[in-house]
Amino acid sequence: MLLDTYGRIATDLRVSLTDRCNLRCTYCMPEEGLSWLAKPELLTDDEVVRLVTIAVTELGVTEVRFTGGEPLLRPGLVSIVERCAALRPRPSLALTTNGIGLERTAEALRAAGLDRVNVSLDTLDPEVFQRLTRRRRHEDVLRGLAAARAAGLDPIKINSVLMPGLNDQEAPELLAWAIEEGYEMRFIEQMPLDAQHGWDRARMVTAGEILESLRTRFTLTPEGGEERGSAPAERWLVDGGPERVGVIASVTRPFCRACDRTRLTADGQVRDCLFARHESDLRGALRAGADDAELAERWRAAMWGKKAGSGLDDPGAFVQPARPMSAIGG
Ligand code: GTP
Ligand code: 5AD
Ligand code: SF4
Repeated sequence: MLLDTYGRIATDLRVSLTDRCNLRCTYCMPEEGLSWLAKPELLTDDEVVRLVTIAVTELGVTEVRFTGGEPLLRPGLVSIVERCAALRPRPSLALTTNGIGLERTAEALRAAGLDRVNVSLDTLDPEVFQRLTRRRRHEDVLRGLAAARAAGLDPIKINSVLMPGLNDQEAPELLAWAIEEGYEMRFIEQMPLDAQHGWDRARMVTAGEILESLRTRFTLTPEGGEERGSAPAERWLVDGGPERVGVIASVTRPFCRACDRTRLTADGQVRDCLFARHESDLRGALRAGADDAELAERWRAAMWGKKAGSGLDDPGAFVQPARPMSAIGG
């Protein structure tokens, strides 16, 4: 079990499979890209599967999510999913992607055992998409989404980061579209994880503003019944339900107290938090010949030291981690 000193147990593993991406979202990375990890630094497919196996069979992980950069750029993705789906107990398997390439791979991913997918899409306007991502790929994302739905991936969640002056007026339209298409819409507060260190608390669109904007068109009632649990998204019923909308308010309403996450970077480092400033090197130990018991022990030790929270609630003291979002996987 992956326990920390605050009594939290991590059962949800996020595995970044590459730090590369085919978009250049302004809130994530600069136009010229970043200095990507070199191939020998990346965990091989076998190494990824070995570490996921240890997490699932020895450390109590029940949910595995593959992230990036853009995970569809990883050539071995389908086979990694297939091998993870064969584990017992079988973990639930999810993917967070920008959707480009899903058109070609959704069917194979589903057949390999992928359960669900979260797709990032910040706007319905191809021109705004181009300004936000610096690439003309809006149509590819829409085709990817259609393919994911046709392949039976369910639920499909849409992640939108709202940026002032670009897409911040679009929340109601995005929600209406998602309901029409049968997707679950989530709006995300921009976090200080961009490679350029350009985040500005004063310019960020807050959960309060997002909800206010949605309420110009919809009636929102807090989702009753089940607890929010460890999910980052707080959910509301739209016009009485059953449709829902989620808001991920990492900055204004942090949810660290219920956090159940552990992370593995593409180069084999364990992060106990999205905002961690310290990592534990599993790749080095693995390549030096450590056995499964030793790797499990290192992972346990890495999580034991997890801090109470992201530190975002103390703006004066907050220090952005060295690794940007695209190399952590969100
Ligand atoms: P579900 O299990 O489907 O709800 O997925 P998710 O929302 O946890 O994951 P997804 O990859 O879709 O991420 C959506 C947003 O939540 C991204 O901006 C992530 O960076 C953010 N996020 C994911 N995990 C954490 C976390 O532990 N802390 C914070 N602050 N944000 C997180
Ligand atoms: N703040 C919040 N969300 C971000 N994402 C990328 N960068 C940031 C940021 N700085 C989102 C992507 C994607 C998810 C994995 O994280 O849009 O939906
Ligand atoms: Fe790529 Fe995601 Fe970063 Fe956009 S937010 S540049 S899609 S890694």
